[in-house]
Amino acid sequence: MRVGLLTGGGDCPGLNAVIRAVSKSLLLRCGAEVIGFEDGFLGLIEGRYRQLDYRAVSGILTRGGTILGTSNKANPFRYFARDGADVSDEVLHRYRDMELDAIVVIGGDGTMTIANGMQKKGMAIVGVPKTIDNDIVGTDRTFGFDTAVTVATEAIDRLHSTAQSHHRVMILETMGRYAGWIALHAGMASGSDVILLPEFPYDIDVVAEVCRKRGQGGQRFTIVAIAEGAKPEGGELAVKKVVVGSPDPIRLGGAGNVLAHALEQRLEGEVRTTILGHVQRGGTPTPFDRVLSTHFGSQAACVVEEGRSGVMVALHDGRMTEIPLTDVAGKVRNVKPNDPHVRAALSVGTSFGVREL
Ligand code: F6P
Repeated sequence: MRVGLLTGGGDCPGLNAVIRAVSKSLLLRCGAEVIGFEDGFLGLIEGRYRQLDYRAVSGILTRGGTILGTSNKANPFRYFARDGADVSDEVLHRYRDMELDAIVVIGGDGTMTIANGMQKKGMAIVGVPKTIDNDIVGTDRTFGFDTAVTVATEAIDRLHSTAQSHHRVMILETMGRYAGWIALHAGMASGSDVILLPEFPYDIDVVAEVCRKRGQGGQRFTIVAIAEGAKPEGGELAVKKVVVGSPDPIRLGGAGNVLAHALEQRLEGEVRTTILGHVQRGGTPTPFDRVLSTHFGSQAACVVEEGRSGVMVALHDGRMTEIPLTDVAGKVRNVKPNDPHVRAALSVGTSFGVREL
């Protein structure tokens, strides 16, 4: 058996753990040859790859990033280096010429959408859900999310010191794109007073009221966890830059600054913002993510061995399962008002910056 492997989209804690799990499972269980493509789909388009033997994937479980490299621009249906040309047929030929039995693609929603397109053309593909954003449909968890939440929680815990000492409003902006999972979980884990998510546009007067009321009650500081995709009611997304050629060109950033500016006009005290950025994606994965990555990788190898494809491995109710790529492609899993986490946060008095949810 000859199996290809690639990591697509942004880097994420646990990528190497999945590479290790897929490769070791295939090598040990069926003596397969594993080929790692470099820089995501770019390696498949440009013919850049290398053999992943046992030695190559040893000692990488705890390492951040991806030993294969990745790209958030590579798309066989719109190859940026050739003016957005569709090179998917060439990619299919390469796959056939290399006599690959299947390709395991480790990536987020963009990667799964490309994978779905390629499987429709006849490529045997198995997906593994990666992203710190936790926004892929069909799986209760993506790997990388737990690490991002852990980093963001620690950051907010540390911001408490300045908030309490200087009687300030301290805002921590998390990543997460158009889904609020990181801010929701880190906000809850750190006991943030206000959590602002893309899913629930906030009323700035409600947020200011929370800060004022806390002051009146003797708590002269407020902690706000805000997702980068959060925006005020009737307001715009905070766009940091546009990456031309990327499947999703919008890069968010600055929602915390927008909030701070609006709060400063309504409050007497000082307001400060910290934007956490890529710190959430870097470094070693948490034990939870290492375990989840190992499960995902082992499951993906099983699917390949059994000759099945066109699916993404997933976690559902604590068990490994699979979901067709067609059900995943082009969709985003968002936070709903009736999500148990939202209800639990509300019941302990956390504000989501809206009058009613
Ligand atoms: O999807 C993961 C993610 O980290 C998002 O949370 C964030 O909006 C985006 O990627 C940042 O992308 P880039 O690394 O291209 O700036």
